Amino acid sequence: MNDAINNKVYIETYGCQMNLNDSEIVSSILAKNGFLIIDNPKEAGVILLNTCSVRENAEKRIHERLNHLKSFKKSNKNLVVGILGCMAERLRTKLIEEEKIVDLVVGPDEYRKVPILIENAYSGEKGIAVKLSKFETYDDIAPLRTEGISAWVSIMRGCDKFCSFCVVPFTRGRERSRPLESIVKELIDLSKQNFFEVTLLGQNVNSYLDEESGSDFSELLIACSRAVPEMRIRYSTSHPFDMSDKLIRTMAEHDNICKHVHLPVQSGSGNVLLAMNRKYTVEHYLDRINKIKELMPECTISTDIIAGFPGETDEDHQLTLDLMKTVNFDGSYMYKYSPRENTKAWDMADSIPEKVKISRLNDIIELQHVISKEINANLIDKTLQVLVEGPSKKSEDDWVGRTDSNKLVIFPKNQLNGFGVGTKINVKIKRSTSATLFGDII
Ligand code: SAH
Ligand code: SF4
Ligand code: F3S
Repeated sequence: MNDAINNKVYIETYGCQMNLNDSEIVSSILAKNGFLIIDNPKEAGVILLNTCSVRENAEKRIHERLNHLKSFKKSNKNLVVGILGCMAERLRTKLIEEEKIVDLVVGPDEYRKVPILIENAYSGEKGIAVKLSKFETYDDIAPLRTEGISAWVSIMRGCDKFCSFCVVPFTRGRERSRPLESIVKELIDLSKQNFFEVTLLGQNVNSYLDEESGSDFSELLIACSRAVPEMRIRYSTSHPFDMSDKLIRTMAEHDNICKHVHLPVQSGSGNVLLAMNRKYTVEHYLDRINKIKELMPECTISTDIIAGFPGETDEDHQLTLDLMKTVNFDGSYMYKYSPRENTKAWDMADSIPEKVKISRLNDIIELQHVISKEINANLIDKTLQVLVEGPSKKSEDDWVGRTDSNKLVIFPKNQLNGFGVGTKINVKIKRSTSATLFGDII
């Protein structure tokens, strides 16, 4: 690389956990090519935004951020600004045409080209690389992880489900899985590097398939569980259609596979699920929940819910509320439907007035709050095993950790008695809110 140029790169990440892991992959590619990853945008020669397109709001935030970055470019004419991720894939040349400060646009399957595109941008050439691949998994790249005790590991990329509301199959392309052997090797390396927990990532981890060995997701989980028995293993996200008995049994039979399932339901109405092209019925979903509760009574369950999908009636909405009560979700990510161009639902009229969408979303949020609060209140006086993560963000005197079931637990720092980050402690819960448990180490 030309010595005269500022090789410091600052990356800002938006969107899902896969994007977080992708930023670590991009960092690794850049570091190998002589760039330095820094965490202060003011010192950077290159600013990259790794973006999300899943809802209109996610994209709006990026446009606002680009507006803000104009002042950076004014004070440093050589600054290179790049857009990575799903928005790069969706908007392509439009981004360069409409956002004058953008120098490069790189989609999720073209990150190997980031170094060369940056070099070209230094010489004034704007660059775009947005081809999707059927094969790229970045399997040979060790993500550059910076901190923490918990690591993200992408085991597959893309999505073939084509839910009618969702942009992901268009921005991430076809589903493809990494070989089992290389995932297991990465976990062993992570364990040697003092990571205590991994989350296996994919848009649909339970449709994982290693084409070479024919191993499915359950077999991958078993191999991981045996390879790093001292590590906690989580995964996200799973699709109800592919939530097999075999997978649930595998979770139940392996102590180090965390007893938490994130199983997005989206709606409690069969009609809406059909229009969403979710490929399962309410009955199927509840059957999966029952199986989880039967084999793992201690397992927590979280979900994603969309309010105001085209054609959703008051009755449909009520069915969603009913389902939330039936399942008793520990937590939910709750969204207002946002129409996305090119999706099937884009062609349906966005028929639910904004006011109604907001009011339905509020019903859902309120109900979830009540349910989570009650579930957490029932944990008072119970003793839970907690993996110590580090200082709490809110108070200097407290530390934070997580239970196997993915509940956040706060406890006084002065009770740690030498226990450090990454150790497992027992905490007796004395107080709780809908989101957090508070307790004393015993
Ligand atoms: N692959 C994951 C979901 C990824 S997107 C899965 O299927 O579980 C995360 C969540 O965003 C989805 O579960 C859905 O609830 C929400 N979402 C996706 N597209 C949306 C849209 N157009 N409007 C509102 N919410 C959306
Ligand atoms: Fe989107 Fe559906 Fe794929 Fe999830 S499964 S990423 S919601 S298309
Ligand atoms: Fe967003 Fe792309 Fe992830 S659209 S949710 S960053 S896969």
